[in-house]
Amino acid sequence: MTRSLREMDYDYLTSKREDRIVYSMPGHAPSLVTTIAPNGTVNVGAFEQTMLCSNVPPVIILAVSPKSDTLHNLRDHRECVIGYPYPASVQKVYDAGVRLPRGISEVELVGFNTEPAVTVEPPRLRECWFVAEGQLLWEQDSGDHVACGISVNHVALDASFWDDDYKNRRVKLPALYYTVGGNFFEVGDHKKVQASSFVRNTGHAG
Ligand SMILES: Cc1cc2nc3c(=O)[nH]c(=O)nc-3n(C[C@H](O)[C@H](O)[C@H](O)COP(=O)(O)O)c2cc1C
Repeated sequence: MTRSLREMDYDYLTSKREDRIVYSMPGHAPSLVTTIAPNGTVNVGAFEQTMLCSNVPPVIILAVSPKSDTLHNLRDHRECVIGYPYPASVQKVYDAGVRLPRGISEVELVGFNTEPAVTVEPPRLRECWFVAEGQLLWEQDSGDHVACGISVNHVALDASFWDDDYKNRRVKLPALYYTVGGNFFEVGDHKKVQASSFVRNTGHAG
């Protein structure tokens, strides 16, 4: 699988409105998260509860089960790479939900292909068209999951999905969404609307 990546560092992501991370990522789609276990192995977990929390600075929230190796690796080692997978890799996304003892890597078992990240130790996955490299900034108990705020230092996007028009950029992103029990779907219908007249008179935030 060869792809050309558009690399975007912290200064790039935070300088101009149209280059913000929000325009290169989907809302609430399953991500694949790599972390490093205490024995040095690479852990991969699937997390649909992935959401952008801040653009400047870029922060992504992961809602992670207290049972998951990903949470413990984040607490111990701090670093991770959050990636959005190509739809063709859907089987691997589902298989990344496998429960393995901590320190046993999903990489070989599931068949992920890794490549070095630019700013952190956990690798990128070549199965992903978007990768965000970062560190655990904070965590918050939230019931049955722990919300983890990940501060993002660096993003890379498959260059074939870049559009200079930031309003159109997200339309092309090949996001894969999840329901339950191995059922995934893609969104492919673009609707363009104008604000209603009463909204235009008061102003619009989106
Ligand atoms: C598509 C998909 C989405 C998932 N989303 C989440 C999630 O948002 N939060 C979570 O804690 N677990 C989620 N899981 C389950 C974890 O992937 C699973 O617990 C896995 O064992 C975690 O890996 P780890 O223990 O290596 O960190 C999801 C699983 C799949 C297949």
